[in-house]
Amino acid sequence: MSQLSISLVVFVLVSVSLVDADPKVHKLDLNSSQQVVDTTSFVQIADNDEPGVRLEVYGTVYKSDGVTPAAGIQVHVYHTDATGKYGREGDPQGTTRLNGDMVTGESGEYRFTTIKPASYPGTTAPAHIHYRITVPGKEGVTWFALEFADDAHISESKRKKEKEKGRFSSIIELTENGDGLTGTFNLKLDG
Ligand SMILES: [Fe+2]
Repeated sequence: MSQLSISLVVFVLVSVSLVDADPKVHKLDLNSSQQVVDTTSFVQIADNDEPGVRLEVYGTVYKSDGVTPAAGIQVHVYHTDATGKYGREGDPQGTTRLNGDMVTGESGEYRFTTIKPASYPGTTAPAHIHYRITVPGKEGVTWFALEFADDAHISESKRKKEKEKGRFSSIIELTENGDGLTGTFNLKLDG
């Protein structure tokens, strides 16, 4: 085997071990009771001093059968602030200031806390939260966007269409949780 081939093999082996050691999928065994706590499926997006109504969104990512939880899924979410803007005055175009990354654990669950976003300024676009889903080992990304059932800007046709998706509707109900609002958004992956 030539020196180049040996170097290549070493490079590949090191690369594979680096992927395995991805800290995003690291799990921490916190105590001796065998309880494994996933450290990556939760993120606080908005600081406590961010203006707006506090919001918690929780859900489960399922495989395409809609039943089997999907583990190790990378969930990136972003949304506007309470004035409907993604970035602050002077931020570069395309800045999404309020965003966060999660990776689902064995249960497929994710959770984030933030503030409730507002419609784009001067528009009747419903307020929403974007989801970019990446499945490790698969090319491409899948997009979702959730909206809020109490939003008067959502059309009746959209409501009807989403209702047909049952528990995978992207229009979510919010309830008071004492600290703000909370809602559930479950996702079903394609294929
Ligand atoms: Fe948007």
